[in-house]
Amino acid sequence: MADELPVCVVSELTPGAVMGAGHYAVGNASGRLFAVSRRCRHLGADLAGGSIDKQGCLVCP
Ligand code: FES
Repeated sequence: MADELPVCVVSELTPGAVMGAGHYAVGNASGRLFAVSRRCRHLGADLAGGSIDKQGCLVCP
C-alpha cells in the first residue's frame, strides 16, 4: 500500500485553494483535486504559495 499523507478535510479544499502537505502542493483546480511536487522546477519556489489561474493551471508564486 502506498504511503498516505493526511492533508485536510476535503471540504476545506475549495476551488482555487492551494496548500502545502509535506513535500507536495495540493489544490483544487475547478473541482479537480491535485497533488504535485512542492518545489517549482524553475528556481525552487514553494508551489504551496501558488494560485490557480482562469484556465485551471497552477501558477508559481
Ligand atoms: S520559481 Fe520561477 S517559475 Fe517557479
